[in-house]
Amino acid sequence: RGLRVADRGFLNTAVIESHITYIDGDNGVLRYRGYPIEQLAERSSFLEVSYLLIYGALPSASQLSHFTSEVLLHGPIHSDAEGFFRAFRYDAHPMSMLTSAFAYLGSYYGEANPSLQGQDLFTKAAKGDPAALQNMDRQIFRLIGKATTLAAMAYRIRQGRDFVVPPTGMSYAESFLYQLDHLSPTDHLSELHSNKPHPVLVKALDILFILHADHEMNASSTTVLQTGSSLPDPFSAVAAGCASLYGPLHGGANEAVIRMLVSIGSPKNVPAFLEAVKKRQKVLSGFGHRVYKTSDPRSFIIRKVADEVFAVTGRDPLLDTAMALHDAALKDDYFVSRKLAPNVDFWSGLIYRAMGFPMDFFPVLFVVPRVVGWVAHWRQMMLSPSGVKIWRPRQLYLGPSTRDYVPLEERT
Ligand code: CMC
Repeated sequence: RGLRVADRGFLNTAVIESHITYIDGDNGVLRYRGYPIEQLAERSSFLEVSYLLIYGALPSASQLSHFTSEVLLHGPIHSDAEGFFRAFRYDAHPMSMLTSAFAYLGSYYGEANPSLQGQDLFTKAAKGDPAALQNMDRQIFRLIGKATTLAAMAYRIRQGRDFVVPPTGMSYAESFLYQLDHLSPTDHLSELHSNKPHPVLVKALDILFILHADHEMNASSTTVLQTGSSLPDPFSAVAAGCASLYGPLHGGANEAVIRMLVSIGSPKNVPAFLEAVKKRQKVLSGFGHRVYKTSDPRSFIIRKVADEVFAVTGRDPLLDTAMALHDAALKDDYFVSRKLAPNVDFWSGLIYRAMGFPMDFFPVLFVVPRVVGWVAHWRQMMLSPSGVKIWRPRQLYLGPSTRDYVPLEERT
């Protein structure tokens, strides 16, 4: 009725009113709850930013301490989950495991499931019911707390190693690196085999987590809300977001950048690669963005972090190819005229690689912080004073109008 044009890819459709994240794509501006990303990356910490994104204000000291201890307290996972992870093939992609693990987690927490508790479970929270609000907070603490634990399990099972119980007394990023107990070939993640993650790398990961925590209606956050709008438990909605993020056009792009740089091989091959991109035989991964029509502001911060990480890990030779590609694309008319500039993924993969992470783990390093953005959007939607409306878009039907069924033997 009245529909004339399909908005393919939601280029011109706002699906929600939000108070969380602001992007000005023409001027390269990103703010969380009004605070510039540059200030948060420099002066805040990941869990403080998480609180800000979810609850809308910077926490007081006691609010931050409560939030931090609740998140870290909810890190451990029922030991049955070990059997769940062991059921995967030895070479399963960590994103397949993580996506499934979030959905699996939902099976433990019936208290967060409107199918079991009644559809008004979260509407009660919207009306200010303290028990319902506490219930909602508990699921948020669980999702953030267990994200690192599940990610570390997906990492270690690939190496045939036992799982690590989340430690106490460490920050979120430090605890994550500790659980991975990840020794890169040159052994820079753990200082002197002490199992204590290197402070420079902890800080770098914390900043990367801040930069990846939210990005308004990206594909995965939209998926979480789309799924959440039919009122499943939040673990199922997050699993759906995780599946969306897995794709190479979204969270898989940092992995795709490294594959691309490895395939280019050296700066001298950059011109030929760019020609292939212009002929649409290749994609320049890590460039372009639906919203930014100039450089992604996060890419400048990441570039600085990369230098700090390389000072510890040593310089990645792929950096020369990356810089040659970056500089050549930014001077080339094809990319300039289409306003294609580096996005967050152009440099992040190089940092993860320098830290010794395998490529297929890169998207997992994106999911862990993005869980915060997902739950912030989910909470905002669930607590909306106008209630939750199921997301049910329309289509333009272009198929046959009506035709009669033809039995198999009469079909030509
Ligand atoms: N390489 C070559 N050409 C490109 C690229 C690219 N990376 N990105 C866009 N274009 C071209 C595209 O072919 C089109 O050209 P034309 O108008 O001649 O047909 C024009 O630029 C406009 O692009 P679009 O496809 O309409 O842009 P979009 O908003 O639909 O897609 C994007 C955005 C991020 C999917 C796309 O730029 C892309 O595929 N980039 C590479 C993958 C990537 O780096 N993804 C990470 C995004 S940021 C983090 C995240 O979201 O996870």
